[in-house]
Parts: sequence; structure tokens; C-alpha cells
Amino acid sequence: MDALDLLLNRRSIAKLSAPAPEGQALENIIRAGLRAPDHAGLTPWRFVISQGEGLGKLSDILVKAAVAENSEQVVIDKVKNAPFRAPMVITVIAKVTSHDKVPALEQYLSAGCAVQAMQMAAVAQGFQAFWRSGKWMFHDEVHQAFGLEGEDQIVGFLYLGTPGCTPMKVPERDLSKFVEYL
Ligand SMILES: Cc1cc2nc3c(=O)[nH]c(=O)nc-3n(C[C@H](O)[C@H](O)[C@H](O)COP(=O)(O)O)c2cc1C
Repeated sequence: MDALDLLLNRRSIAKLSAPAPEGQALENIIRAGLRAPDHAGLTPWRFVISQGEGLGKLSDILVKAAVAENSEQVVIDKVKNAPFRAPMVITVIAKVTSHDKVPALEQYLSAGCAVQAMQMAAVAQGFQAFWRSGKWMFHDEVHQAFGLEGEDQIVGFLYLGTPGCTPMKVPERDLSKFVEYL
């Protein structure tokens, strides 16, 4: 797949089914994440892969957070089912190192770039990915379960699998609304 075509025309697809990427395809996805821009070489990334039983463990972690907030049963049921919307979920964590010249924000941005790079690598190999977040990714119970420390943050849950439908058309956007010249 042509790189520019991928950049200009990628769409997210939420409907994802098996198979998930594995072997070389999965390794390529992780390696793409590891090519995210990285000021001072801090490598501020952790990628936690959930599949099979791992999806059940992720579900348990989210449910624990929802229960800790005394959430209504309907909310608990929703978070319980959430990880099963794809055969694989990669939780992407910004692992923040204290550094004079590289504030935490830059490290969060780097981890965000890693998410998009992994999404692109998935699409380039015939898979699909959907970047999800939600309030639970900021919850202490979830942070504890994933072993976050200090200023670490979860920047997203990247749902991965095989597309269950064709992507929607790319929205037309008027460049003049976004671009200015100084
Ligand atoms: C940091 C981040 C978090 C997101 N979280 C969610 C989410 O929880 N649920 C959701 O439906 N879309 C979420 N999105 C948006 C989708 O991943 C997707 O980009 C959006 O549906 C637009 O589709 P497109 O990528 O094809 O333009 C998030 C995007 C970003 C950048």
C-alpha cells in the first residue's frame, strides 16, 4: 500500500473480528509504534497486549474501576463487554521519565504518535484498528492494575482485528479552515 494513500485515506473501523494480527504482522505493528518520534530517546512507551484470556483480564480491570465508582449495573455491564469488541486490544501507556528538556506532555504526544503508527501499520497489512479511550483509562484502579507510576498515563486502547465492513468515505475538508500563514 502506497504510504501517501494510507495517510490520506485511512478510516477507522469499529466493527472488528478475528483474526487479530499475529506473528510478523503483529511484530510490524509494535515496531511501527517503536518508531514514534521520541525527544531525547526516552522511549516513553509500554504496549500491553490483551487477547483471548487477556481480554477477560482487561474486562475485570475495567469492571473493578466501575464498581469502585458505585456505577449503575448498566454501566458495569457496558465496561465488562467493552474489550470484546475486537479480538485484540493493545493498551498504550506513556511511561514518563522526568527530564529537564522533555516535559511529560511531549512524552504523552510521543505515545499518541505510537498509537497512530500502530494503527497505520495494521491497515497497511490488511487489518484494522480503532483508537478508544474513555474515563476508565484515567482511573486509579486501572492505573494500579497496569502498574503505572508517577506521571505515567494510558493514552489509549487500540482495538485490533479484521475489518467487518468497508470503511466510510473520507470526509471532505476545506484546507483554508485549518491552515494559516504567519
Ligand atoms: C485519543 C483518542 C481517543 C479516542 N477515543 C475514542 C473512544 O473512546 N470512542 C470512540 O468512538 N472514538 C474514539 N476516538 C476516535 C476514533 O478513534 C476515530 O478516530 C473516529 O471515530 C474518527 O474516525 P476516523 O479515524 O476514520 O476519522 C478517539 C480518538 C483519539 C485520538
